[in-house]
Amino acid sequence: MPEITINGYEVFYREQGSGSVALFVHGFPLDSTMWLEQLDALSDVRRCIAPDLRGFGCSAPSVRPVLTMEDQALDLVALIDVLGVDQVDLIGLSMGGYVALAFAERHPERLRTLALVDTKSTEDSVDAKAGRDAAADRVAAEGRSGLATDMIGVLVAESASSWTRARLRTMIESTPAESIVGALKGMKQRPDRTTALSSLTIPVAVIVGENDVLSPIAEADHMAVAAGAALSVVPGAGHMTPIEDPAAVAGALRSLWSLGQSE
Ligand code: MLT
Repeated sequence: MPEITINGYEVFYREQGSGSVALFVHGFPLDSTMWLEQLDALSDVRRCIAPDLRGFGCSAPSVRPVLTMEDQALDLVALIDVLGVDQVDLIGLSMGGYVALAFAERHPERLRTLALVDTKSTEDSVDAKAGRDAAADRVAAEGRSGLATDMIGVLVAESASSWTRARLRTMIESTPAESIVGALKGMKQRPDRTTALSSLTIPVAVIVGENDVLSPIAEADHMAVAAGAALSVVPGAGHMTPIEDPAAVAGALRSLWSLGQSE
């Protein structure tokens, strides 16, 4: 895995394929390995790059108490600057979608297309914010194992294999507790970005698992209407559509990319 220094920290990223760049942004509290199936499926048409965000995966642990979506987005801009890439097809799942929307708000000119997967453009409700605080306190006091158990129960549909669940547990339990707490605080303070989404002029796709309880179909529909985007509902999948039904997600991305202007 290549490693480079951006904005003063070491970032690792996975890379597969050649040509125009597609940048894949992982969810919380996961890492770039959640995109492995997409890299395999799409490297014939794109140079697929999947970074570990600051504080996650193999990238350097973060010393910041709050990991904001905006800072993560600026890290991605710095990453493509260092790689000498002008425009990307950006794909974000859940927290990765919040980061992708922060990126799109600041630098729409760097995007060819945007795919929002199992995510939301709305801000957290009052209850969701309180839930972030409770989760952060619990992880700080007890560590990651309880969070992993709770999250796996809602990340995937009931039909998901024990192998998939074990893979998610490894990702969650490998994430430093400080990063989990920092990202919970960062997600809590993100604003509603529906207006920013609706002002984009590039092709946008919204993809959601039929049984996603974390970012339900109503949220996906809200984004699709705001962006004038195609909405793909993946039958039987939960929140982790790229892992639960890789072919459906790869197919939706290929359709989206056929609308964008390739370099
Ligand atoms: C994720 O999958 O990234 C999280 O569920 C996002 C969130 O907690 O809002």
